[in-house]
Amino acid sequence: MTKHALSNQGGRALAHGDPELARLLVRALEASREEPDSLTHGFHSYPARMHPAIARRVLQSFPGGLVADPFCGSGTVLVEARVAGRPSLGVDLNPVAVWLAEVKTDIRSPAARQRFRQLVRSIGAASEERVRARVDARAPLPPAERKWWGPHVLKELAGLREEIWSVGHPTDRRLLAMVFSAILVKVSNQRSDTAEREAPRRIRKGLSTEIFVRKGLELADRWDALAEAAGSGSPRPRIVEGDALRFPRFLSRGQRAELILSSPPYGGTYDYVDHHARRYAWLGLDPSTMRRAEVGARRHLRGPEAFGKWDRQVLQMLRAMRSGLAPGGQVVLLVGDGQLGDRRVDAAQQLRRLAPQAGLRAVAGASQLRPDFTGRHKRREHLVLLVGDGDARPPRFRRGPRPVGSEGRGAKPGQGRRPASTADDAGRGKRGPKRGRKLGSKGRGPGARRRRGPGGPKKRR
Ligand SMILES: C[S@@+](CC[C@H](N)C(=O)[O-])C[C@H]1O[C@@H](n2cnc3c(N)ncnc32)[C@H](O)[C@@H]1O
Repeated sequence: MTKHALSNQGGRALAHGDPELARLLVRALEASREEPDSLTHGFHSYPARMHPAIARRVLQSFPGGLVADPFCGSGTVLVEARVAGRPSLGVDLNPVAVWLAEVKTDIRSPAARQRFRQLVRSIGAASEERVRARVDARAPLPPAERKWWGPHVLKELAGLREEIWSVGHPTDRRLLAMVFSAILVKVSNQRSDTAEREAPRRIRKGLSTEIFVRKGLELADRWDALAEAAGSGSPRPRIVEGDALRFPRFLSRGQRAELILSSPPYGGTYDYVDHHARRYAWLGLDPSTMRRAEVGARRHLRGPEAFGKWDRQVLQMLRAMRSGLAPGGQVVLLVGDGQLGDRRVDAAQQLRRLAPQAGLRAVAGASQLRPDFTGRHKRREHLVLLVGDGDARPPRFRRGPRPVGSEGRGAKPGQGRRPASTADDAGRGKRGPKRGRKLGSKGRGPGARRRRGPGGPKKRR
């Protein structure tokens, strides 16, 4: 099953709760018809990426200070926060996500971008030379991993990796390592990131290097676009490898998030650690904490205990968010219905039910149907707005333009405020053709684990 399956189609949009706020959320969900791969967003595949337009609209609707994404994945929210000129904090337990989010939120100076292009070309030339001269190189993989690449591809990748790991500057090395990561599944015998089935590909000698060079140059062009959109003075996000259930630890002393915008894993839907299995050994990353503590993982949510366990994880997540939230702040979550064995869990209902136990209150939501390519009944994806239970004032928000053709969708002005738990106003949404669900400072909050960077004996530059 892929998250794309759940998120790549439009459907009926339902608005819940406070009419004005729900309209903003409907508008954000509908924005996912826009281009999903602009700026640095499309650089590297990542399962269940949030659609950048959803993040953009939510940031526009709820202006303010620090934005936090405790499940930042590939960094979609952080890229958009940078474009919006807002400081941000991203946390993820997956070391691949942290490296990727760093790469995607980097801007670099024009001169550094130019040097990076030269570096990519020089590594490409050295790798081509290795292929021509049939230089031997050993892939740092356990035996079970080697089957995923043809013998000459494995050798070429190992040579490319040696060239990258010989680069002296740690930031450059990290950036190049993620370019390498971006091509690994493309030249493998694995069907796709989320489909771990064998699908042999014919990859001629030299092609892996060509794709690497193309990807590296593409990244530099994407940074150009991000620099233009964000401006070089935009605040660089802080990105930490850590557990979202301990999210407040990663805030600086006295700091609180004014907006928590995040897309936590959908219950029982993914195994992120398996989706990145092809990458850990090549990149020298340790996935053991992720294997143990991944939230919502399909492999952990089986059997009769699954429902209670998933509830406990969601409650812990909400409590962590609540204690990291500034007074008057908002939590906006993009969630999908869970699939625990045969049992479907309505994710919006689950949030509404558990929020009060975490000191939060769901005030509005928007939901859309998504097809489920496992052949099961359709599921829904929801954008839910929560605020602190004790917050007397209604959340601060900025009204956006009414979306074209949205008449009748969501609740109408003047209907008054109603609690989300009792009101499920339905309006019809129109079908959309495409939907979608991404090097900042290497800041590490207390409790964040150290990351091993690629290192090598030989030094380039
Ligand atoms: C739906 S994805 C987020 C995608 C992200 N919004 C993006 O656009 O790329 C959920 C993320 O939760 C992360 N995750 C799972 N368990 C976690 C935990 N306990 N703490 C922090 N992150 C976790 C996964 O690694 C994955 O990146």
